[in-house]
Amino acid sequence: MEKRVEYTLNKEQMKKLENVAGDFRNLMMQYECAMLEVQTKLEVLNKELAIKNSRNPFESIKCRLKSPESIFGKLERRGIDFSVENVEKNLNDIAGIRVICSFPDDIYMLVDCLTAQDDIILVEKKDYILNPKPNGYRSLHLILDIPIFLTEEKKHMRVEVQFRTIAMDFWASLEHKLKYKKNIENAESISEELKYCADIISQLDRRMEQIRTKIDNNKYYSQTGIVSVDTK
Ligand code: GTP
Ligand code: MG
Repeated sequence: MEKRVEYTLNKEQMKKLENVAGDFRNLMMQYECAMLEVQTKLEVLNKELAIKNSRNPFESIKCRLKSPESIFGKLERRGIDFSVENVEKNLNDIAGIRVICSFPDDIYMLVDCLTAQDDIILVEKKDYILNPKPNGYRSLHLILDIPIFLTEEKKHMRVEVQFRTIAMDFWASLEHKLKYKKNIENAESISEELKYCADIISQLDRRMEQIRTKIDNNKYYSQTGIVSVDTK
């Protein structure tokens, strides 16, 4: 298993960053704007779908900009020199959004609605729900290209959006701890246990979705005056 190391900028990296401080800050501002655009789009969908389906398609949304430490770390792992141009050209996850849904089918509904919008270009889609990683990781990742409108230009920016259920998020947080912890004892058996839990979580998500559908169908019958007899 690949371990990630905690990172702090060394003197040389600090110097490189200081040399392009203005351009770097500008680029980060642009990523923040792109992130805000996508966040707003998701919140608009949440409001509309909440009325349409009588439930919120997502529970929470978290946004983050990648830190300079992580940017340097990632470029270094890939053997790429640090420059503002290289950051923009090579990294797709400077602006990151995580959308946490209650049910897997809401994830697919949101993804369909979002990617159908005519100002969004879908750059990449990785469906780790349909094809989980060998460790059990499940989520759906999108890389989107979205325009931002600045005072003097229209610029296309990339934003990574991760969709997962509450249960998948619970799992990923714990697994993340294992990935970043150094010299952990029993790492192998912990990985096995995590994989087992990931499979249970997947079954749980599916069953919760089925229960919700049954409840929704009942609601429909009672609203229309048709009496539902099949509540199994
Ligand atoms: P990165 O270099 O990590 O960005 O890999 P990638 O470009 O192949 O992207 P991928 O879509 O596989 O993963 C991107 C992000 O998803 C990671 O930075 C994590 O936030 C999350 N992620 C991916 N795999 C795992 C995993 O096995 N466990 C956990 N906890 N998170 C993961
Ligand atoms: Mg990535």
